[in-house]
Order: sequence, then structure tokens, then C-alpha cells
Amino acid sequence: MLSGAIEVLPARAGSDEGTRGTVVNHRMREVTELVAGQGTWDAGMVDEVRVLFDSLAPEWTVTRDHPDRNLPLVDALDRGGVEGRTAVELGAGTCISARALSGRFERLVAIDLSREMLAHAVDAAPPLVCADASRLPLADSAVDVLVLQNMFLFPVEVDRCLAGEGSLVWVNSRGSETPIHLPTAAVVASLESVTGSAWRAVTSMVGEATWAVVRRA
Ligand SMILES: C[S@@+](CC[C@H](N)C(=O)[O-])C[C@H]1O[C@@H](n2cnc3c(N)ncnc32)[C@H](O)[C@@H]1O
Repeated sequence: MLSGAIEVLPARAGSDEGTRGTVVNHRMREVTELVAGQGTWDAGMVDEVRVLFDSLAPEWTVTRDHPDRNLPLVDALDRGGVEGRTAVELGAGTCISARALSGRFERLVAIDLSREMLAHAVDAAPPLVCADASRLPLADSAVDVLVLQNMFLFPVEVDRCLAGEGSLVWVNSRGSETPIHLPTAAVVASLESVTGSAWRAVTSMVGEATWAVVRRA
């Protein structure tokens, strides 16, 4: 069994006030674990997830965006030492992250399964692509930085699309209360399981949010 090193950095203060009062959807946690742990993802799950997020799209930005929303992502990029020219955010939703990501990379693209999420994208959103992250319209090793914030982990596609020295940035805005959540060890284990080689991570917290930057060891 592989066991990539996980470096834990000191936690920082913060809060995700924008999502208070929302109900943790345990079915999405179940889907998260099925996708990352067993590679389960079928047409029924695609429809289920798309319908759910299409329905949430009109209220997504107003119920989640707040001035500190991107602090965990910014902290991950900064203290995680994330660099690169080409970045793709998977499961970008309405691109609330655009404030943090725009200007940091030469090329930035946002991908999401839900057309409604993309239709409600914030004004400063990067180019948008509607696609399924289990079958990305990206060339092998094309991406330096893959950003997944509150998004399912498809480890085979992450491994295929990520450049050799690339970084996966994993953020859970409400830590273990985030419906689509995996602990850092599970992210590393999922990647090691499908690739058969070691990955390493640096991880920390900003308030209740957790983040990890994961690379090949
Ligand atoms: C919990 S939301 C997070 C949105 C955004 N990252 C944020 O933190 O505000 C999850 C997003 O992932 C998208 N998503 C789910 N499965 C996907 C897939 N297979 N491919 C691409 N996007 C997907 C959903 O449509 C939704 O917009």
C-alpha cells in the first residue's frame, strides 16, 4: 500500500458565513465517496447531479458568495506553492472562485456539468465549458493546476489531464460539513489507488474550511 506524505500546515482563522443554514445533503456525500473510492459514476448519477445543481443554480451565488468565501482557495494557492500557466476549475458552479483565480494564470477555464450553473456565472467568470469531469475534453497532461472546490474527485481524469509537475487544489468550504467532502488522506488514497504510484499533499484549514494541494510524489 502506498502512503504519500501529508504535510500539515498551521490552521488560519476564517469562516464561511455564506452557507450557514443550508442542509448537508448526505446523498451528495455518498456520491462523493462512490466516485472517488469505487469509480462509480453512471448515467443515473449524471442525471441526478445535473438536475440537483440546475435547480440550485439561481440561488447559488447569492447564498454562498461573501467577501471571505475565497480565503481558503487563496491560502491553498499561496501556502501550497501552486504555480503554473494553465489552470482549469472543475465543478466551477457559478465561478465564485473567479476573483481568486483570475490573473494568476495565463490560461483559465471553468468546467461544469450543469448548464444552469454556468448560465448564472458571475460577471468576471473565465471561459466556460459544459462538460462531465469524468470525461474531460482536455488533452493528456495539458493542465498545470486543477482546482476542485466542493467538487467530486474523478481520479483517473485528474491523473490523465494533470501535467507531470502539476497540482490538484482541493478545497472544502465547510470542511467535513461540506456535502461534497473528502479528507486529504482520502484524496491521496484515491489517486494512489488508480495510478499505482505515490502522491503527496500539503494541507491546512482556514476556519472550518479544509484545503489540500496534491502532487505526484
Ligand atoms: C457543490 S457545487 C460547487 C460549485 C463551486 N465549486 C463552489 O464551490 O461554489 C458542485 C458543482 O460541481 C458540478 N459537478 C458535479 N458533477 C460534475 C461533473 N461530473 N463534471 C463537472 N461538474 C460537475 C455541479 O454541477 C456543481 O456546479
